[in-house]
Parts: sequence; structure tokens; C-alpha cells
Amino acid sequence: MNFDGKVALVTGGGSGIGAATVEALRAGGATVVAADLDGGDLTLDVTDDAAVEAAIAAVVEQHGRLDLAANVAGTSGAHADVVDVGLDAWRHTLSVNLDAVFLCLRAELRAGATSIVNVASSAGRMGVAGMAAYSASKHGVIGLTKSAALEVARSGVRVNCVCPGGTRTPMLAAFVGGDENALEGMGRRTPMGRLGTPAEVAEAIVWLLSDSASFLTGSVVEADGGVAAV
Ligand SMILES: NC(=O)c1ccc[n+]([C@@H]2O[C@H](COP(=O)([O-])OP(=O)(O)OC[C@H]3O[C@@H](n4cnc5c(N)ncnc54)[C@H](O)[C@@H]3O)[C@@H](O)[C@H]2O)c1
Repeated sequence: MNFDGKVALVTGGGSGIGAATVEALRAGGATVVAADLDGGDLTLDVTDDAAVEAAIAAVVEQHGRLDLAANVAGTSGAHADVVDVGLDAWRHTLSVNLDAVFLCLRAELRAGATSIVNVASSAGRMGVAGMAAYSASKHGVIGLTKSAALEVARSGVRVNCVCPGGTRTPMLAAFVGGDENALEGMGRRTPMGRLGTPAEVAEAIVWLLSDSASFLTGSVVEADGGVAAV
């Protein structure tokens, strides 16, 4: 895919799926700013409204424009049954996974971005026992994506969403406490019998960002090895 002359922002670009998205966009010729709490080109806490506004203004000032954005930053968040989840843990998960996607999306649209991809999850398509906050936040990302897409559709701006399934990243490894057997077990339980790679999910994100997906908006693309087909 050719992204020559395009300027892109990737949140969560310091690790996992976000880092793979940065790499794929750069390989296509885009100028990419990776924004992350840790490990990006630009240090950013996506839950901080003023910091998000300032970061996007800085990208526009430095590069003259913002064309593309991938909102990938996220957290696995509170892991407990609903009866046991504390309000602070609930709010933290929703803040990182949903409020921050809203803040970034809003600022990106205001800055003139014309193609934006939000990252939800297969957990945004189904209930997940023990992960209600995560699942609710990702369902929210899908609703946010579709609503924003409708609002801007006639101005030629596209907003889409990718739902990864289990993908080998630091987040998933941390979620299972680094237990390789647990990761392999998760992979075996998917229809394709394996976990995805960050690069495979990034391919879907980058395709949606590109002009190749010019008639897609408000779409939810599953990159999950078949999980949503069950
Ligand atoms: N790995 C999976 O199996 C999987 C499955 C479905 C969805 N996802 C989603 O994919 C996205 C990327 O996850 P990943 O697996 O690559 O994880 P990861 O931990 O490798 O990367 C997530 C990145 O987000 C950053 N981040 C977290 N909070 C932030 C904040 N407040 N401000 C800025 N950056 C912040 C982290 O520093 C990290 O670099 C997340 O939205 C996650 O929910 C992952």
C-alpha cells in the first residue's frame, strides 16, 4: 500500500499491535508519529484530554497535516467477576479503552484526519466472563466508531474499527503471567488453532486506513482467526 506523503498518528505505537502498525505504515511511505505512555516517538497519556489535544497540535505543527490515525492504545484492565470489580478499576479500564479513544478520535477529526481506525477486540462482540470492564469498553468502541462514521460519512472521512482476537503481544503475555502454555492453549481454542501476530492485525488496520478501503466506513473488521464466526 502506498502512503507516500501521508502523515499518520498511532496511539499505543510503542508496543505490540500499535508498533506493528507503525512499521507497516512506514513501510508504505507514511510519516508516522507513534504516541505512547512508553516507548513511542511522542510520550502521551491518551486519557489526558489536554495532552491529546496538544500532541495532535504538535503533529500538525511539525508535519503540516494529519491524514491518518490508528487508535490502538489499550489495557486488559480489571480482571474479575462483576461482583468483585472495584469502581476505580472499572473506571480505569473504561478510561483507557473507551474515553481515550473518544478523546483521540475527536481531536483527530478536528485536525482533519480523513481515515481513522479504532482498535476494539473480539471481546467487543461477545461477553467475556471475568472481563466485563474490558468487554464493555470494547463494545463501546464499536458503537463510537459506527456513530462517528455516520456523522462524517458525507465529508469523505472514514472511521472504521478492527477487532483483534488473541494476538501475541506483551499485553496478552502479561495477562497470562507469561505462561507460554496458557498462550498456546488460547491459540488452540481459536478456530484457526493459533494466536495471531501483531503484524497480521496491523495488516487489517493499515488496509482500512488506506484508499484500498475507500468504500468502507463504520465497518467492524475481525482479525481474530475465526473467533467471531463461531
Ligand atoms: N493482544 C491481544 O490479544 C488483543 C486482543 C484484542 C484486542 N487487543 C487490543 O489491541 C490494542 C493493542 O494491544 P496490544 O496487545 O498490542 O498491547 P500492548 O500492551 O503490546 O500495547 C498497548 C500499548 O498501549 C499503551 N498504552 C496503554 N495505556 C496508555 C495510555 N493511557 N496512554 C498511551 N498509551 C497507552 C501501552 O504503553 C502499550 O505500548 C489494545 O487496544 C488491546 O485492547 C489486543
